[in-house]
Amino acid sequence: MIDVRSDTVTRPTQAMREAMAHALVGDDVYGDDPTINTLEEKAARLLGKEAAMFTPSGTFANQCAIMTHTRRGEEIILTEDAHILQHEAGAPALLSGVNMRTGKSFLGKYDLAELETLFRGEDIHYPRTGLVCLENAHGSGAVIDLEHMKAVHDMAKERGVPVHVDGARLFNAAVSLGVDASKIAEQCESVCFCLSKGLMAPVGSLLVGSEKFIYHARRNRKLMGGGMRQAGILAAAGILSLDEQVGRLHLDHARAKKLAEELEKLPEVHVEKDRLDINMVFFRWDDERPLEEELLKRNILMNGIEYGEYRIVMHGDIDDEKFEALMQALRDICS
Ligand SMILES: Cc1ncc(COP(=O)(O)O)c(C=O)c1O
Repeated sequence: MIDVRSDTVTRPTQAMREAMAHALVGDDVYGDDPTINTLEEKAARLLGKEAAMFTPSGTFANQCAIMTHTRRGEEIILTEDAHILQHEAGAPALLSGVNMRTGKSFLGKYDLAELETLFRGEDIHYPRTGLVCLENAHGSGAVIDLEHMKAVHDMAKERGVPVHVDGARLFNAAVSLGVDASKIAEQCESVCFCLSKGLMAPVGSLLVGSEKFIYHARRNRKLMGGGMRQAGILAAAGILSLDEQVGRLHLDHARAKKLAEELEKLPEVHVEKDRLDINMVFFRWDDERPLEEELLKRNILMNGIEYGEYRIVMHGDIDDEKFEALMQALRDICS
């Protein structure tokens, strides 16, 4: 099978499997798992923040951040298409008791004039604004530039509101912008990133922020049932994600661009060319047949249509041979 549904489908590398087998472990709820501690220190250092905490997933890290930044009854600001709003099962309302106020999304960017109006003034009728969220890289495949992030951060800072960045693909964003990931992290109070997507680890994300923020986040992680014990087995793979996989992400981006070029040659396909910043290609297909079913007949897994678009994701398990087989299948279907 060739699996291009997402970069979450990547399997751990052989080096990861070996590191996991030999990982030194302790009890992370007591704070004495040495491999978890190494991973958390490394993540904090890489992002220029004081502390980091391992979580089971990106959703967990986002929700733990919201719970830690806000109090029940407050409101958080997001773009209307944010993963936190659209793909996390309504968790902010359920787990943190917060309202979600949305702004229009321009591939993850706010309309800054509109954003100003989304912050609540001091009035007993209004919920308090507790948090502003950004997503970088954005789920549309676009990357948000640092100028926009700074403008959002400055606006929030002026009003005493923290910013959280859902950086599930933070390192893809950094590679695409050609900056150190810490430059992105400068524009927020907390940021999370996933090890289990393009970085190939089997499980896990990190939530990163100040010492004080992470101290409180640890309590919230515990109450959400995310205090894991000998989790160093997972962290061992995560360390290799940071050491060995970040430097490989540009290859996935290059393959995605090549895929877009090749797809453009097929008359039925219209690629969304304005958002080819990372490892994802979004496109429309002018054909009645569900493309995912046609691909499945050729042993290729792709997700079905969402909002009228298909998506193919490049990742470390797609080599040149698989790429060519995918392209051949698409050409055959189109012809
Ligand atoms: C932008 C974004 N945020 C958060 C998540 C959640 O990550 P997880 O699947 O690990 O919960 C995803 C997952 O694809 C994502 O794309």
